[in-house]
Amino acid sequence: MTDSPTAAVTGATGFLGSRLCERLLADGWAVHGLSRPTSDRGGLEEVEWHVGNLADEETLRSLVDGADVVFHLAGIGLWSAGPETVWEVNRDGTERVLAACRDGDAGRIVFTSTAGTRRPQGDDDFADETDVAEPIGAYQASKAAAEELVDRYAQAEGEAVTVHPTSIFGPGDEEFTAQLLAMGVEPTMPAHLPGGLSIVGVADVIDGLVAAAERGTSGEHYILGGENLTFDRAVARIADAADGSPARIRVPATAIRAAGPVAELVDAVADRRVFPFDREMADLATQRLFYTSRKANEELGYEYRPLEAHVPDAMDWYRENVQ
Ligand SMILES: NC(=O)c1ccc[n+]([C@@H]2O[C@H](COP(=O)([O-])OP(=O)(O)OC[C@H]3O[C@@H](n4cnc5c(N)ncnc54)[C@H](OP(=O)(O)O)[C@@H]3O)[C@@H](O)[C@H]2O)c1
Repeated sequence: MTDSPTAAVTGATGFLGSRLCERLLADGWAVHGLSRPTSDRGGLEEVEWHVGNLADEETLRSLVDGADVVFHLAGIGLWSAGPETVWEVNRDGTERVLAACRDGDAGRIVFTSTAGTRRPQGDDDFADETDVAEPIGAYQASKAAAEELVDRYAQAEGEAVTVHPTSIFGPGDEEFTAQLLAMGVEPTMPAHLPGGLSIVGVADVIDGLVAAAERGTSGEHYILGGENLTFDRAVARIADAADGSPARIRVPATAIRAAGPVAELVDAVADRRVFPFDREMADLATQRLFYTSRKANEELGYEYRPLEAHVPDAMDWYRENVQ
């Protein structure tokens, strides 16, 4: 890598991608970002924008050409699109990014998948990179298919590393973070969920992405997780850290499982997406989905901070923009 390396970033206008761009610019990188015509580019004026989408091969080629590292973050979840679009963006979009890298002069690819393609197996408490799980829903399936393409690219064509963030917490995320904060501090949000998850601060994921670019082994996968917490514990700790009053009523697992079929019905009739999206996801929401980041720690020097370290920034954003 040269003294002033160049990064190409897809998803540069998103929650994670915009923070990554800020960090790379602060570290002295030149940054090329992919932006759709309608994307909110925030204050990222120093980014060289390439306007188009993941279906636009020419834009992708100009985006990645000359980049030392291609951070492929653009992706879409079932909150914002139906299964077909999710598949097209996550799987087919990745295929096009790989093709652009193959055709052009591009260095290492760092692909952002999800920890959701891994789950604790059998009686294990935690999942690691080897715990490949049967995908549930189009989001996980499309990410798993994209991972295969990236692995194949790493075997035969170029350098590529895949990272698997768990649930990312931080300012600017109107979905997961806003909901978790609302459960912690809004008296009108009485719901607790059973089950548990790994919550990672957005700044820690950014550190992991940069470390994967610098020190990851091509062809390898790294879980970028945070603290493993039951939902109850996470909500109570947010309430304490934000000085709010935690919600007390717990939604039983049976009610969440029952919500699965209801969500399917609303989805079909009203063309609106309601979480949990189907029976299998309803089941998933009641499980303890805990992850170990040991491999990233040992090989990349990755570390994560406790939830409390991330609450003040997220809370400031929430009070200003959501509440
Ligand atoms: N947030 C999490 O908890 C989490 C956890 C694990 C993995 N991930 C993965 O991390 C990545 C970033 O997630 P995020 O939370 O930052 O999501 P986000 O805020 O929704 O950002 C998604 C980005 O992808 C872009 N994008 C979507 N469809 C596109 C298309 N067809 N063509 C070009 N760009 C497109 C969006 O552009 P616009 O600005 O125009 O919408 C945006 O820049 C995703 O791949 C996601 O699957 C996220």
